[in-house]
Amino acid sequence: MTEDTLPPYLGPQRVLSGIQPSGALHLGNYLGALKKFVALQDQGPLLFVADLHAITVWQEPQQLAAQTREIAAAYIASGLDPMKASIFPQSAVPAHAELAWIFNCVARLGWLDRMTQFKEKSGAHKERASVGLYTYPVLQAADILIYKATHVPVGEDQKQHLELTRDVAQKFNHDFDAPGFFPLPEPLIAGPGARVMSLRDGRAKMSKSDPSDNSRLNLMDEADAIVQKIKKAKTDPEPLPETLAELKGRPEAENLVGIYAALADQSAEQVLAQFAGKGFGTFKPALAEVAVATLAPIGVRMRALMDDPVEIDRVLKQGAERANAIAEPILKEVKAKVGYWSARS
Ligand code: AMP
Ligand code: TRP
Repeated sequence: MTEDTLPPYLGPQRVLSGIQPSGALHLGNYLGALKKFVALQDQGPLLFVADLHAITVWQEPQQLAAQTREIAAAYIASGLDPMKASIFPQSAVPAHAELAWIFNCVARLGWLDRMTQFKEKSGAHKERASVGLYTYPVLQAADILIYKATHVPVGEDQKQHLELTRDVAQKFNHDFDAPGFFPLPEPLIAGPGARVMSLRDGRAKMSKSDPSDNSRLNLMDEADAIVQKIKKAKTDPEPLPETLAELKGRPEAENLVGIYAALADQSAEQVLAQFAGKGFGTFKPALAEVAVATLAPIGVRMRALMDDPVEIDRVLKQGAERANAIAEPILKEVKAKVGYWSARS
């Protein structure tokens, strides 16, 4: 994806996204999110580490700061230049949480009741989930709209949260008689990497929380581990077909073809044109080669950066200053619209 693929929008564009510091990053995060951020970096994106979202499920306090630095290192190691992109911790910009409170009073319970991620994450005992996990999408709307962001590159799993963000923006604009005050942000989801599936089960999403480490390629995996995990990846006995239609019903094969396409910047059709008739004995080593070529250098850079926390902290601090400078005046305008005494001029 390049910046030309931004949908047409008349007005200033602002690209924003975030990743939670809640576990090791994997290929799904890279293809669904990080790689797109790099392609958009000339737009000066705002990219944060979602540490407010992370604590909606328990995070060890002694580890949270280190996990935050690790996500910052992943941003930079993936190719983001901190001079172009503003990289910062969400909790270092208080306006996110302040706007989230106002949006809690705009969003409706019925909207949140429909959110599938809450249902998945809260499991069988939703009464034991934190209130924060329930209102998580409202905070996400605040993350985006506190900067009046217009474009949000994310993986497919965030589509519903982006729809809720648009609903919040629209209702706020309507309730406070402020047409066009908040833009209706566009999700940027397209592409073969938008939904990377587990290497062990082509019907489950590749995820940080899967107990099997063999289900995912981690950004910090060494080359050998990447090769071994691809070798062990679940497949079927058939050779690769000539057309995409014939991949339907073969979720593991479809996933590996999609991963190859996303890593090699090809379409799935191009990958099939090259490998049709070949079995996984041929395809897997080729896939391992492109995966190692992309991921291993990112892992090396991440390790080097994490040895230099002072530099990471400098980047996070500078990013937070830039982000606060954009968010504060917008929060002030919002408070004035709501009618708060504190925003009187
Ligand atoms: P998270 O780790 O949940 O904070 O997700 C960070 C970003 O990675 C979000 O944009 C997600 O949509 C994206 N993402 C997470 N898992 C996957 C996956 N399996 N495939 C594609 N994108 C993903
Ligand atoms: N909820 C996103 C995820 O789990 C992370 C996130 C938080 C985010 N706030 C955001 C993504 C705002 C885009 C925009 O992946």
